[in-house]
Amino acid sequence: MNVYDSSRIAEILKSLGHRETTDIREADIVIFNTCHIREKAAEKVFSDLGRLNQIREERLEQGKETIIGVTGCVVQAEDEQIWKRAPFVDFATGPLTYHRLPEILAKISRNKHNFIIDTEFPAEDKFDFLPKNHASGGCSYLAIQEGCNNFCTYCVVPYTRGAEYSRPVEAVLTEAQRLVEEGAVELNLLGQNVNSYHGEDRMGHERSLAYLIRKLAELDGLKRIRYTTSYPADMTDDLIDCYRDVDKLMPYLHLPIQSGSDKILKAMNRRHTSGDYLRIIDKLKDAKPEIGMSSDFIVGFPAEDDNDFQATLDIVNKVKFIQAFSFKYSPRPGTPAALMKNQIPEKVKKERLEILQTLLFDYQNKFNQASIGQTMSVLFESKGRHAGQLIGRTPYMQNLHAKVPEDKLNQIVMVKVTSATTNSLTGSVVGE
Ligand code: 5AD
Ligand code: SF4
Repeated sequence: MNVYDSSRIAEILKSLGHRETTDIREADIVIFNTCHIREKAAEKVFSDLGRLNQIREERLEQGKETIIGVTGCVVQAEDEQIWKRAPFVDFATGPLTYHRLPEILAKISRNKHNFIIDTEFPAEDKFDFLPKNHASGGCSYLAIQEGCNNFCTYCVVPYTRGAEYSRPVEAVLTEAQRLVEEGAVELNLLGQNVNSYHGEDRMGHERSLAYLIRKLAELDGLKRIRYTTSYPADMTDDLIDCYRDVDKLMPYLHLPIQSGSDKILKAMNRRHTSGDYLRIIDKLKDAKPEIGMSSDFIVGFPAEDDNDFQATLDIVNKVKFIQAFSFKYSPRPGTPAALMKNQIPEKVKKERLEILQTLLFDYQNKFNQASIGQTMSVLFESKGRHAGQLIGRTPYMQNLHAKVPEDKLNQIVMVKVTSATTNSLTGSVVGE
């Protein structure tokens, strides 16, 4: 979602006549779009801002001013503290108010020495105020839902991105149609809790993500549909049925479980048990036997003991995730879990993370090795490091390198996989 927000912010700046630069010393405006999910990400902002301030001062000696802004969830959480810790920052907006950037920048150009902060949860829908989302290549993000009502006890998202909001069906379909006309062959539908989507159609009826997927599949030029991130309790049967009926829906699902221990899941306020999760996977496999699962894990949640951690390893051995993200629990100010007793020492968290990641990488590597010899459709998204090489994604989100003519960029090509590592595949083109 942050990658998506950053591209929307860049589009706002372009609509105001600015150009993008890769050289930070050339930039008249620098905006940090920030993440508050774990302490490490949130703290990095302040060290990065410190470095940027040096550049700002050097530019000032050359008579050039630099406007520095901070956007995203760190702003929502830290509010005025941003300014206390980095007084040279000119403005800051939360993730729901960056559509107001044109007004903010206009105010700054009138009076450079006023710090502006906007952390409202606005009544208006920011999507109605943003410039049009353009397809940046063959694969485009499309935000359909934002915010979360789940209040997992470790998570800042409900506080920083606010309550769940689903964009109207019509707005999503119109945007999708335009993105496809501009060359998108894959759409990745975004939301913090995307499978709880319940946008209204023109008649005022609430429609589900499954409805949206079926509608989007009717778009001629669109070849692939993905969505992320989902919540297990919201994996409804009509959504699972899409895996049986909709060929354009990719056979890959990122479905965070967080822990394999029911005691820990309860303390996390997750509305599912490990058994529920396994039952969902059974249904998914029934609908699409070749589906590959991905997940998020947190180790070292308060009171997690060796048995709880073993339950997490057990579920990994049962599901055999083809990809996963895993993190040490990071206490976040203002969340219930940060105040729980029995916080786990850093050393134990580190040990558990290493054990879990070794197991996860092993399954990822096995899946990649089993891809050798298979022919897969690959959407080429960028140029590789070597001349004549492009990098793309298989249906399972594996990175794949191949020698392909450059005019195949942003297109889907059939590729036979010839070799594999834990993180990527190599292949050769067999046809279109
Ligand atoms: N500590 C560690 N990981 C967290 N996540 C969310 N909050 C925390 C936290 N406080 C992880 C979850 C989530 C992913 C986006 O980040 O696994 O699914
Ligand atoms: Fe955070 Fe996801 Fe839980 Fe919502 S469902 S509170 S975004 S971890």
